[in-house]
Formats: sequence, structure tokens, C-alpha cells
Amino acid sequence: MAAELIRGKDIAAAIQKELAEAVQQLAAQNIVPGLATILVGDDPASQSYVGAKNKTAHALGIHSEQHNLVANTSEDELLALINSCNENKAIHGILVQLPLPGHISESRVLSSIDPAKDVDGFHPVNVGKMLLGEQCFLPCTPHGIIELLRRSGVTTTGAEVVVVGRSNIVGKPVANLLIQKREGGNATVTLCHTRTKDMAFHTRRADILIVAAGVPKMISADMVKEGAVVIDVGVNRIGQSESGKAILAGDVDFAEVSKKVRAITPVPGGVGPMTITMLMHNTVQAAKMVNKIAL
Ligand code: GUN
Repeated sequence: MAAELIRGKDIAAAIQKELAEAVQQLAAQNIVPGLATILVGDDPASQSYVGAKNKTAHALGIHSEQHNLVANTSEDELLALINSCNENKAIHGILVQLPLPGHISESRVLSSIDPAKDVDGFHPVNVGKMLLGEQCFLPCTPHGIIELLRRSGVTTTGAEVVVVGRSNIVGKPVANLLIQKREGGNATVTLCHTRTKDMAFHTRRADILIVAAGVPKMISADMVKEGAVVIDVGVNRIGQSESGKAILAGDVDFAEVSKKVRAITPVPGGVGPMTITMLMHNTVQAAKMVNKIAL
């Protein structure tokens, strides 16, 4: 039987509707949430992600400023821009698109963002709070995955969850959120990575399999359990259409795996729209917090 499709696009649209209403309520109090996005270099995938973030912000009534810096921008120039955004009262959230060029220290840059404006949840203060289960900005893709599961009626409590990938952006934080003692957590989590001895042994045990490895179609049908729920975070550009549009593939062999599992996210239209939506959620939250409005 064909799997149920977990349509991130539709779930994201529902959340964005709620956010647009929240933005309107803030506007009645003369508060406009503001987001600054910073892109260094001209990587086409990053350009497209940042463009989509600004477009969505605009559609929701969030003020957004897009800073596009050339690839050879110095670290000091970038830090100076972040500092000016930290001090700008019209900006509540700052996003520095990753990855950064090799000559810039990611850790120095992320640590320079005011934690109260760190809508990506990448500042060490927010990472620490997340680990401790304290109130903080949650990183957008992991938070989006938790919301996808919750709004699709997939219970994480007691579930065997296997995460493939240990990046700071997805693998590590999503594993962390899933072990928290609260709704959307309470799972038993296994984290697999490039040094895992027998990947299939672990993935076959998963009630919920989350794949964020960046390797096209690495999860084949024989690596999943019948009836599992599969969340595919991969966005791999495997070619180009005649009109020049990127052809995308996930980390999961969708055609084969979808015949066996209970539910699966498509690529595109699965996790991607959720990432952008949770960024908007965090930006609205940042504007509320600075204005002492209940979240
Ligand atoms: N690169 C890939 N995903 C992300 C993300 O969620 N935030 C930022 N800033 N960069 C990314």
C-alpha cells in the first residue's frame, strides 16, 4: 500500500496563516517584526534559500533586509555588519546563511549574534538552553521536523527514532529535541553517522527515521522497517531541467521506500517549507519578547 504523504508545504501554509494573524495583531500595536538575512558569496542553493526566506517574510508582513556580500568579504566586515544589526531596533532576528566561505570562522560569526536576535538558534547560549530544555530559539529545521510529526499525528513518546547525520544544523539538534522530557520528545534516539559500522542494522529498527546526510537516495527500501515514518531532510541537486530549474532528490529513495512505509515526506515540499516557517515563527517570537508581549 502506498504511504501517506506528509505534506510539509500544506502544514507550513497552515502555520504561516497563524503567523500572519500574529503579525497583524502586532501591527495594531505599531510593532513590525524585522528580519535581517546575510548571505556571503554566490552559491546558487544558498541564494535560493535566502531568497525564499525574504519572500516569505514579506508575504507575512515581516520587514526583511537582505544583505548580499561578495565571497571575499573579510570576517571583520561581516562581524561589523552583524554588530550593526545587533544594534538596529528595527531588526529582531538575524540569520547568517551557512555554509560560510572557508576564510571566515563560523563559530566566531555565530557567537557574535545577539542571542536575543538569534532566530536560527545557533548561538552557543541558545544551543545550551536547548540541551537543558529551557525556553530559547529552536533551530528551524529540527523544530520544523518536530512540528511536522506533531501535526501529522505521529507520536514520538516511546518511539525508536533513528537520525542519520550529525550536523550542527539538523542531526545533533533534532536528536536533542527528541530526547527532551515533553510533548514532541520522549523518544529513544539512535544517531548514525559516517563512522557508524552497520547503518542498515539501525535504520531497520526505526519507528521514525530522520535522514539528514546529504547523500542522494542513500536510504533504500531494504533499510527501512515496514510501517515506519520517514522524514527526508535531504535536498540534493542532481541535475537541471531544460528551463534551468534544479532537479532535486532527497536522501531517501522515495519511489521504492514509499511502497513500504506508513508515511513519508516528499522532496521538495516536505521539510523545506517547514524550515522557512519556523524561522518566521522565531522572528515573530523575537519581536514579541523584546516588546514584552506574552508568547
Ligand atoms: N544552511 C542550511 N540550513 C540552514 C539554516 O537553517 N540556517 C542557516 N543560517 N543556514 C543554513
